[in-house]
Amino acid sequence: MASIKFITICFVTALFISLTISSVDAASGEEFKVGWRQPGVNETDLYHHWALKKKFHVGDSLRFEYKNDSVIVVDKWEFYHCNRTHPTWGAKDGNTTVNLNRAGPFYFVSGDPEHCKNGQRLAIEVLPLYPISQSPPQPISMAPAPSPLSSSALVSTIPLTFISVLISPIVAVLGGLA
Ligand SMILES: *[C@@H]1O[C@H](CO)[C@@H](O)[C@H](O)[C@H]1NC(C)=O
Ligand SMILES: *[C@@H]1O[C@H](CO)[C@@H](O)[C@H](O)[C@H]1NC(C)=O
Ligand SMILES: *[C@@H]1O[C@H](CO)[C@@H](O)[C@H](O)[C@H]1NC(C)=O
Ligand SMILES: *[C@@H]1O[C@H](CO)[C@@H](O)[C@H](O)[C@H]1NC(C)=O
Repeated sequence: MASIKFITICFVTALFISLTISSVDAASGEEFKVGWRQPGVNETDLYHHWALKKKFHVGDSLRFEYKNDSVIVVDKWEFYHCNRTHPTWGAKDGNTTVNLNRAGPFYFVSGDPEHCKNGQRLAIEVLPLYPISQSPPQPISMAPAPSPLSSSALVSTIPLTFISVLISPIVAVLGGLA
């Protein structure tokens, strides 16, 4: 009987871990929309300021929306000089999604060097995946709402109840065999 208990505990633990991991995955992957255009003379730091207010993580994506223009991924030197010297990735379909699939800096410029010099360029720093312990920020609500405790208790109870319903016949069968 002891070994059956041990197997059951392992099984429940593995299921619970996989459930926890999939809920963490679902929490990441934010899409940031970028209105991609030449900034006015007054706002040449437009994209710098836009990026300062955001936090980008691996798994997020940027969606560039633009007309009659292009978006090109470049390196740091090319970004600061608005001069493309390497063959790089780019698109000009007007609606371009870039997946931020690694941590570190990403540099984007308009394929038109004049647009780039006028400030149509974006540099971002992508942070590693969310640490597992960090829970997503809870929106602060003024209205009395169901407490977050009760909803998270519900979330963790349902799978466990479900799992024990699944497992009890297995234990019964194994117990009968032993
Ligand atoms: C620059 O912005 C200010 C305030 O936003 C505005 O009053 C001014 O007309 C703008 N100047 C130009 C050249 O666009
Ligand atoms: C598109 O861009 C090209 C080159 O910058 C320019 O000659 C053309 O007039 C633009 N077309 C529109 C519809 O803005
Ligand atoms: C871009 O950089 C390369 C390498 O430094 C240089 O030879 C070229 O003249 C530059 N092009 C422009 C348009 O500045
Ligand atoms: C751009 O593409 C996304 C899907 O990748 C779509 O949801 C969105 O509606 C598109 N926007 C435009 C303006 O076509």
